[in-house]
Amino acid sequence: MSRLSSRARLMPASPIRRLVPLADQAKARGTQVHHLNIGQPDVETPRPLIEAYHQFNDKVLAYGPSSGLLPLREAVAGYYERIGQPVPSKNIHVTTGGSEALVFAIGAVADPGDELVVFEPFYANYAGFGRLLDVNLKAVVTRAEDGFRLPADEVIERAIGPKTRGIIICSPGNPTGTVYTREELDRLARIVKKHDLVLISDEVYREFTYEGVATSALALGIDDRVIVCDSISKRFSACGARVGFVLTRNDALSDVFLRFGFARLCPATVDQLAALAAYQLPASFFEPVVKEYRARRDALVDGLNAIPGVHTYRPEGAFYTVASFPVKDADHFCQWLLNEFSTDGRTVMMAPANGFYATPGEGQKETRIAYVLNVPALNESVQILAKALLVYPGREA
Ligand SMILES: Cc1ncc(COP(=O)(O)O)c(C=O)c1O
Repeated sequence: MSRLSSRARLMPASPIRRLVPLADQAKARGTQVHHLNIGQPDVETPRPLIEAYHQFNDKVLAYGPSSGLLPLREAVAGYYERIGQPVPSKNIHVTTGGSEALVFAIGAVADPGDELVVFEPFYANYAGFGRLLDVNLKAVVTRAEDGFRLPADEVIERAIGPKTRGIIICSPGNPTGTVYTREELDRLARIVKKHDLVLISDEVYREFTYEGVATSALALGIDDRVIVCDSISKRFSACGARVGFVLTRNDALSDVFLRFGFARLCPATVDQLAALAAYQLPASFFEPVVKEYRARRDALVDGLNAIPGVHTYRPEGAFYTVASFPVKDADHFCQWLLNEFSTDGRTVMMAPANGFYATPGEGQKETRIAYVLNVPALNESVQILAKALLVYPGREA
Protein backbone atom coordinates (compact mmCIF):
# COMPACT_ATOMS: atom_id res chain seq x y z
CA MET A 1 0.00 0.00 0.00
CA SER A 2 1.75 3.15 -1.14
CA ARG A 3 -0.74 5.97 -0.69
CA LEU A 4 -2.04 7.42 2.55
CA SER A 5 -4.70 10.12 2.69
CA SER A 6 -3.53 13.65 3.39
CA ARG A 7 -5.58 13.45 6.58
CA ALA A 8 -3.56 10.38 7.60
CA ARG A 9 -0.31 12.17 6.93
CA LEU A 10 -1.31 15.40 8.66
CA MET A 11 -2.88 13.90 11.79
CA PRO A 12 -0.89 15.40 14.67
CA ALA A 13 0.55 13.30 17.49
CA SER A 14 -0.97 14.02 20.89
CA PRO A 15 1.33 16.26 22.97
CA ILE A 16 -0.11 14.51 26.00
CA ARG A 17 0.86 11.01 24.92
CA ARG A 18 3.76 11.65 22.52
CA LEU A 19 6.47 11.31 25.17
CA VAL A 20 5.06 8.13 26.73
CA PRO A 21 7.78 5.88 25.18
CA LEU A 22 10.42 8.06 26.88
CA ALA A 23 8.60 7.69 30.20
CA ASP A 24 8.44 3.92 29.67
CA GLN A 25 12.20 3.83 29.06
CA ALA A 26 12.83 5.88 32.21
CA LYS A 27 10.67 3.46 34.20
CA ALA A 28 12.54 0.49 32.68
CA ARG A 29 15.74 2.08 34.04
CA GLY A 30 14.12 2.08 37.47
CA THR A 31 13.20 5.79 37.61
CA GLN A 32 9.88 6.69 39.21
CA VAL A 33 7.97 9.11 36.96
CA HIS A 34 5.44 11.56 38.39
CA HIS A 35 2.80 11.85 35.68
CA LEU A 36 1.76 15.46 35.37
CA ASN A 37 1.19 15.07 31.65
CA ILE A 38 -2.28 13.56 31.44
CA GLY A 39 -5.66 14.50 32.89
CA GLN A 40 -6.20 11.12 34.48
CA PRO A 41 -7.67 11.93 37.89
CA ASP A 42 -6.46 9.77 40.79
CA VAL A 43 -9.78 10.28 42.64
CA GLU A 44 -11.36 6.88 43.21
CA THR A 45 -14.16 6.02 40.82
CA PRO A 46 -17.37 6.01 42.92
CA ARG A 47 -18.20 2.50 44.13
CA PRO A 48 -21.77 2.36 42.69
CA LEU A 49 -20.30 2.89 39.25
CA ILE A 50 -17.85 -0.02 39.62
CA GLU A 51 -20.60 -2.18 41.08
CA ALA A 52 -22.77 -1.60 38.02
CA TYR A 53 -20.17 -3.51 36.01
CA HIS A 54 -20.21 -6.43 38.46
CA GLN A 55 -23.99 -6.53 38.50
CA PHE A 56 -24.43 -6.88 34.76
CA ASN A 57 -25.85 -10.34 34.19
CA ASP A 58 -27.82 -10.30 30.91
CA LYS A 59 -27.60 -13.45 28.81
CA VAL A 60 -26.72 -11.44 25.70
CA LEU A 61 -24.63 -8.30 25.61
CA ALA A 62 -26.84 -6.67 23.02
CA TYR A 63 -26.71 -3.49 20.94
CA GLY A 64 -28.57 -0.64 22.56
CA PRO A 65 -30.37 2.35 21.01
CA SER A 66 -28.13 4.62 18.89
CA SER A 67 -28.64 7.66 21.09
CA GLY A 68 -28.07 5.68 24.27
CA LEU A 69 -30.16 3.99 26.93
CA LEU A 70 -33.27 6.00 27.75
CA PRO A 71 -32.86 5.79 31.56
CA LEU A 72 -29.39 7.31 31.20
CA ARG A 73 -30.62 10.07 28.87
CA GLU A 74 -33.39 10.83 31.36
CA ALA A 75 -30.94 10.87 34.26
CA VAL A 76 -28.74 13.31 32.36
CA ALA A 77 -31.79 15.45 31.55
CA GLY A 78 -32.47 15.48 35.33
CA TYR A 79 -28.90 16.63 35.95
CA TYR A 80 -29.28 19.51 33.46
CA GLU A 81 -32.58 20.44 35.11
CA ARG A 82 -30.79 20.54 38.49
CA ILE A 83 -28.07 22.87 37.18
CA GLY A 84 -30.82 25.18 35.93
CA GLN A 85 -30.43 24.45 32.20
CA PRO A 86 -33.13 21.97 31.21
CA VAL A 87 -32.63 20.03 27.99
CA PRO A 88 -35.18 17.36 26.97
CA SER A 89 -33.84 13.80 27.07
CA LYS A 90 -34.66 13.41 23.35
CA ASN A 91 -32.03 16.09 22.64
CA ILE A 92 -29.33 14.38 24.72
CA HIS A 93 -27.33 11.77 22.80
CA VAL A 94 -24.93 9.37 24.49
CA THR A 95 -21.54 9.17 22.79
CA THR A 96 -18.31 7.24 23.22
CA GLY A 97 -16.76 9.80 25.53
CA GLY A 98 -16.76 13.54 25.13
CA SER A 99 -14.36 12.81 22.28
CA GLU A 100 -17.06 11.38 20.04
CA ALA A 101 -19.39 14.18 21.14
CA LEU A 102 -16.86 16.66 19.74
CA VAL A 103 -16.53 14.74 16.48
CA PHE A 104 -20.33 14.73 16.11
CA ALA A 105 -20.55 18.45 16.93
CA ILE A 106 -17.83 19.48 14.48
CA GLY A 107 -19.17 17.12 11.81
CA ALA A 108 -22.68 18.57 12.18
CA VAL A 109 -21.70 22.18 11.52
CA ALA A 110 -18.64 22.19 9.26
CA ASP A 111 -17.89 20.79 5.82
CA PRO A 112 -14.41 19.83 4.61
CA GLY A 113 -12.43 23.04 4.16
CA ASP A 114 -14.62 25.02 6.57
CA GLU A 115 -13.18 26.71 9.63
CA LEU A 116 -13.86 26.82 13.34
CA VAL A 117 -12.45 29.54 15.57
CA VAL A 118 -10.68 28.25 18.65
CA PHE A 119 -8.80 30.04 21.42
CA GLU A 120 -5.25 28.83 21.82
CA PRO A 121 -3.83 27.17 23.78
CA PHE A 122 -6.67 24.67 23.25
CA TYR A 123 -7.33 21.01 24.03
CA ALA A 124 -4.93 19.44 21.56
CA ASN A 125 -7.34 16.82 20.28
CA TYR A 126 -9.52 19.55 18.72
CA ALA A 127 -6.78 19.66 16.07
CA GLY A 128 -7.01 15.87 15.69
CA PHE A 129 -10.81 15.95 15.37
CA GLY A 130 -10.55 18.81 12.87
CA ARG A 131 -8.06 16.82 10.80
CA LEU A 132 -10.26 13.72 10.88
CA LEU A 133 -13.09 15.77 9.35
CA ASP A 134 -10.92 18.05 7.16
CA VAL A 135 -12.13 21.04 9.13
CA ASN A 136 -9.53 23.74 9.77
CA LEU A 137 -9.04 25.46 13.09
CA LYS A 138 -8.52 29.20 13.07
CA ALA A 139 -6.64 29.93 16.28
CA VAL A 140 -6.96 33.17 18.23
CA VAL A 141 -4.15 33.45 20.75
CA THR A 142 -4.79 34.11 24.43
CA ARG A 143 -2.03 34.89 26.91
CA ALA A 144 -0.80 33.43 30.19
CA GLU A 145 0.01 36.96 31.47
CA ASP A 146 -3.69 37.80 31.67
CA GLY A 147 -4.89 34.33 32.72
CA PHE A 148 -5.88 33.37 29.14
CA ARG A 149 -8.92 35.68 29.17
CA LEU A 150 -10.79 36.15 25.87
CA PRO A 151 -9.40 38.93 23.68
CA ALA A 152 -11.41 41.98 22.55
CA ASP A 153 -14.36 41.42 20.19
CA GLU A 154 -12.45 42.98 17.25
CA VAL A 155 -9.65 40.42 17.65
CA ILE A 156 -12.11 37.53 17.70
CA GLU A 157 -14.11 38.92 14.76
CA ARG A 158 -10.96 39.38 12.71
CA ALA A 159 -10.55 35.57 12.78
CA ILE A 160 -14.01 35.03 11.30
CA GLY A 161 -14.07 34.61 7.53
CA PRO A 162 -16.45 33.33 4.84
CA LYS A 163 -15.65 29.70 5.71
CA THR A 164 -16.12 30.06 9.47
CA ARG A 165 -18.99 27.92 10.76
CA GLY A 166 -18.54 28.09 14.49
CA ILE A 167 -16.48 28.74 17.58
CA ILE A 168 -15.23 26.01 19.95
CA ILE A 169 -14.78 26.93 23.58
CA CYS A 170 -13.76 24.95 26.64
CA SER A 171 -14.63 26.42 30.04
CA PRO A 172 -13.36 25.44 32.57
CA GLY A 173 -10.49 25.13 30.15
CA ASN A 174 -8.00 22.49 29.27
CA PRO A 175 -5.06 23.29 29.20
CA THR A 176 -5.57 26.74 30.74
CA GLY A 177 -7.92 26.13 33.69
CA THR A 178 -9.59 29.43 32.77
CA VAL A 179 -13.29 29.77 33.51
CA TYR A 180 -14.94 32.31 31.24
CA THR A 181 -17.04 34.95 32.95
CA ARG A 182 -20.66 35.61 32.06
CA GLU A 183 -19.54 38.83 30.41
CA GLU A 184 -17.03 37.00 28.20
CA LEU A 185 -19.61 34.41 27.21
CA ASP A 186 -22.22 37.09 26.45
CA ARG A 187 -19.71 38.74 24.13
CA LEU A 188 -19.18 35.42 22.37
CA ALA A 189 -22.93 34.89 22.09
CA ARG A 190 -23.30 38.27 20.36
CA ILE A 191 -20.50 37.41 17.93
CA VAL A 192 -22.00 33.97 17.22
CA LYS A 193 -25.38 35.55 16.41
CA LYS A 194 -23.95 38.40 14.38
CA HIS A 195 -21.92 36.06 12.14
CA ASP A 196 -24.51 33.26 11.94
CA LEU A 197 -22.28 30.71 13.68
CA VAL A 198 -22.68 27.80 16.10
CA LEU A 199 -21.04 27.74 19.53
CA ILE A 200 -19.59 24.32 20.41
CA SER A 201 -19.10 24.38 24.15
CA ASP A 202 -16.92 21.71 25.73
CA GLU A 203 -18.08 21.59 29.36
CA VAL A 204 -16.51 18.34 30.54
CA TYR A 205 -14.88 20.12 33.54
CA ARG A 206 -18.07 21.94 34.63
CA GLU A 207 -17.91 20.92 38.33
CA PHE A 208 -14.21 21.68 38.73
CA THR A 209 -14.32 25.35 39.69
CA TYR A 210 -12.49 26.94 42.61
CA GLU A 211 -13.73 30.55 42.54
CA GLY A 212 -17.45 30.34 41.81
CA VAL A 213 -19.40 28.39 39.22
CA ALA A 214 -18.95 27.94 35.48
CA THR A 215 -21.65 29.39 33.21
CA SER A 216 -22.95 26.89 30.67
CA ALA A 217 -23.34 28.02 27.07
CA LEU A 218 -26.94 26.83 27.49
CA ALA A 219 -27.54 29.94 29.63
CA LEU A 220 -26.68 32.43 26.88
CA GLY A 221 -30.07 32.73 25.19
CA ILE A 222 -28.81 31.45 21.82
CA ASP A 223 -30.38 27.99 22.12
CA ASP A 224 -30.51 27.37 18.39
CA ARG A 225 -26.79 27.94 18.08
CA VAL A 226 -25.40 25.98 21.03
CA ILE A 227 -24.03 22.44 21.12
CA VAL A 228 -22.71 21.21 24.46
CA CYS A 229 -20.19 18.36 24.69
CA ASP A 230 -20.09 16.61 28.03
CA SER A 231 -18.58 13.51 29.61
CA ILE A 232 -18.45 11.38 32.75
CA SER A 233 -14.67 10.91 32.40
CA LYS A 234 -13.56 13.73 34.68
CA ARG A 235 -16.82 14.41 36.52
CA PHE A 236 -16.98 10.92 38.02
CA SER A 237 -13.34 9.95 37.62
CA ALA A 238 -14.41 7.38 35.05
CA CYS A 239 -12.17 8.05 32.04
CA GLY A 240 -12.12 4.37 31.04
CA ALA A 241 -15.90 4.08 30.81
CA ARG A 242 -15.89 6.10 27.58
CA VAL A 243 -19.30 7.70 28.10
CA GLY A 244 -20.05 11.23 26.96
CA PHE A 245 -22.95 13.27 25.67
CA VAL A 246 -23.69 15.69 22.87
CA LEU A 247 -26.73 17.87 23.47
CA THR A 248 -28.51 20.83 21.99
CA ARG A 249 -31.88 22.56 22.19
CA ASN A 250 -31.83 22.84 18.39
CA ASP A 251 -34.04 19.99 17.12
CA ALA A 252 -32.50 19.95 13.63
CA LEU A 253 -29.00 19.51 15.08
CA SER A 254 -30.33 16.91 17.49
CA ASP A 255 -31.68 14.97 14.51
CA VAL A 256 -28.21 15.06 12.92
CA PHE A 257 -26.73 13.54 16.10
CA LEU A 258 -29.33 10.79 15.96
CA ARG A 259 -28.35 9.97 12.36
CA PHE A 260 -24.60 10.17 13.13
CA GLY A 261 -25.35 7.78 15.98
CA PHE A 262 -27.11 5.33 13.65
CA ALA A 263 -23.94 5.10 11.58
CA ARG A 264 -21.89 3.75 14.48
CA LEU A 265 -24.80 1.71 15.87
CA CYS A 266 -24.63 2.48 19.60
CA PRO A 267 -22.44 3.42 22.56
CA ALA A 268 -21.20 0.63 24.88
CA THR A 269 -24.07 -0.88 26.87
CA VAL A 270 -22.51 -1.82 30.22
CA ASP A 271 -20.60 1.45 30.47
CA GLN A 272 -23.89 3.30 30.14
CA LEU A 273 -25.26 1.33 33.08
CA ALA A 274 -22.25 2.46 35.08
CA ALA A 275 -22.87 6.05 33.96
CA LEU A 276 -26.49 5.72 35.07
CA ALA A 277 -25.28 4.74 38.55
CA ALA A 278 -22.99 7.78 38.54
CA TYR A 279 -25.86 10.17 37.76
CA GLN A 280 -27.70 8.82 40.80
CA LEU A 281 -24.95 10.04 43.15
CA PRO A 282 -25.88 13.01 45.33
CA ALA A 283 -24.52 16.42 44.28
CA SER A 284 -22.55 16.41 47.56
CA PHE A 285 -20.22 13.87 45.89
CA PHE A 286 -18.36 16.77 44.28
CA GLU A 287 -17.67 18.76 47.46
CA PRO A 288 -14.63 16.82 48.78
CA VAL A 289 -13.38 16.32 45.22
CA VAL A 290 -13.41 20.04 44.46
CA LYS A 291 -11.86 20.84 47.85
CA GLU A 292 -9.03 18.40 47.14
CA TYR A 293 -8.35 19.86 43.67
CA ARG A 294 -8.37 23.41 45.06
CA ALA A 295 -5.69 22.40 47.61
CA ARG A 296 -3.69 20.76 44.82
CA ARG A 297 -3.96 23.81 42.60
CA ASP A 298 -2.72 26.08 45.38
CA ALA A 299 0.17 23.77 46.29
CA LEU A 300 1.25 23.51 42.66
CA VAL A 301 0.86 27.18 41.75
CA ASP A 302 2.61 28.41 44.90
CA GLY A 303 5.37 25.81 44.49
CA LEU A 304 6.00 26.60 40.83
CA ASN A 305 6.03 30.35 41.34
CA ALA A 306 8.62 29.92 44.10
CA ILE A 307 11.11 28.42 41.58
CA PRO A 308 13.25 31.23 40.13
CA GLY A 309 12.22 31.96 36.54
CA VAL A 310 9.07 29.79 36.57
CA HIS A 311 5.71 31.52 36.24
CA THR A 312 2.16 30.39 36.33
CA TYR A 313 -1.18 32.07 37.11
CA ARG A 314 -3.88 30.72 39.44
CA PRO A 315 -6.39 28.88 37.22
CA GLU A 316 -10.03 29.08 38.31
CA GLY A 317 -11.05 25.60 37.19
CA ALA A 318 -10.35 22.18 35.63
CA PHE A 319 -7.11 20.61 36.89
CA TYR A 320 -4.41 22.04 34.66
CA THR A 321 -2.13 24.98 34.53
CA VAL A 322 0.18 26.27 31.83
CA ALA A 323 3.55 27.21 33.31
CA SER A 324 6.42 29.02 31.62
CA PHE A 325 9.97 27.87 32.27
CA PRO A 326 13.32 29.67 31.91
CA VAL A 327 14.34 27.36 29.06
CA LYS A 328 14.88 27.81 25.31
CA ASP A 329 12.64 24.92 24.38
CA ALA A 330 10.17 23.41 26.86
CA ASP A 331 9.62 20.42 24.56
CA HIS A 332 13.33 19.57 24.84
CA PHE A 333 13.18 20.19 28.60
CA CYS A 334 10.29 17.68 28.95
CA GLN A 335 12.23 15.09 26.95
CA TRP A 336 15.44 15.72 28.88
CA LEU A 337 13.58 15.24 32.18
CA LEU A 338 12.65 11.74 31.02
CA ASN A 339 15.83 10.82 29.13
CA GLU A 340 18.59 12.25 31.21
CA PHE A 341 17.47 13.49 34.58
CA SER A 342 16.48 11.95 37.88
CA THR A 343 16.97 12.93 41.48
CA ASP A 344 16.68 10.29 44.21
CA GLY A 345 15.44 7.95 41.47
CA ARG A 346 12.56 10.25 40.47
CA THR A 347 11.58 12.54 37.64
CA VAL A 348 8.55 14.35 36.26
CA MET A 349 6.60 14.05 33.02
CA MET A 350 4.83 17.14 31.66
CA ALA A 351 3.12 17.89 28.34
CA PRO A 352 5.00 20.40 26.16
CA ALA A 353 2.56 23.27 25.56
CA ASN A 354 3.51 23.84 21.90
CA GLY A 355 1.14 21.00 20.96
CA PHE A 356 -1.77 22.99 22.43
CA TYR A 357 -1.18 25.89 20.02
CA ALA A 358 -1.83 25.96 16.29
CA THR A 359 0.36 29.02 15.69
CA PRO A 360 3.98 27.93 15.08
CA GLY A 361 6.36 29.26 17.72
CA GLU A 362 3.70 29.81 20.41
CA GLY A 363 4.04 27.99 23.74
CA GLN A 364 7.75 27.35 23.17
CA LYS A 365 8.70 27.94 26.80
CA GLU A 366 5.53 26.53 28.32
CA THR A 367 4.31 23.17 29.57
CA ARG A 368 0.89 22.00 30.60
CA ILE A 369 0.84 20.51 34.08
CA ALA A 370 -2.10 18.40 35.27
CA TYR A 371 -2.54 18.48 39.05
CA VAL A 372 -3.98 15.01 39.25
CA LEU A 373 -1.60 13.81 41.99
CA ASN A 374 -2.01 14.35 45.72
CA VAL A 375 -0.42 17.35 47.44
CA PRO A 376 2.71 15.51 48.74
CA ALA A 377 3.39 14.12 45.24
CA LEU A 378 2.85 17.59 43.73
CA ASN A 379 5.23 19.15 46.26
CA GLU A 380 7.79 16.50 45.43
CA SER A 381 7.29 17.14 41.69
CA VAL A 382 7.94 20.84 42.24
CA GLN A 383 11.15 20.02 44.13
CA ILE A 384 12.24 17.74 41.27
CA LEU A 385 11.63 20.53 38.75
CA ALA A 386 13.54 23.03 40.88
CA LYS A 387 16.54 20.69 41.07
CA ALA A 388 16.33 19.87 37.37
CA LEU A 389 16.44 23.53 36.42
CA LEU A 390 19.70 23.97 38.34
CA VAL A 391 21.48 21.52 36.02
CA TYR A 392 19.48 21.63 32.76
CA PRO A 393 21.87 22.62 29.96
CA GLY A 394 19.18 24.48 27.97
CA ARG A 395 18.36 26.85 30.82
CA GLU A 396 18.12 30.54 30.07
CA ALA A 397 19.13 33.17 32.59
C1 LIG B 1 -11.38 19.52 27.21
C2 LIG B 1 -11.63 18.09 26.99
N1 LIG B 1 -12.65 17.74 26.20
C3 LIG B 1 -12.92 16.46 25.93
C4 LIG B 1 -12.15 15.46 26.46
C5 LIG B 1 -12.49 14.06 26.08
O1 LIG B 1 -12.77 13.27 27.16
P1 LIG B 1 -13.49 11.87 27.05
O2 LIG B 1 -13.49 11.42 25.64
O3 LIG B 1 -12.72 10.98 27.96
O4 LIG B 1 -14.87 12.14 27.56
C6 LIG B 1 -11.08 15.76 27.30
C7 LIG B 1 -10.21 14.72 27.85
O5 LIG B 1 -9.18 14.95 28.41
C8 LIG B 1 -10.81 17.11 27.57
O6 LIG B 1 -9.81 17.48 28.35
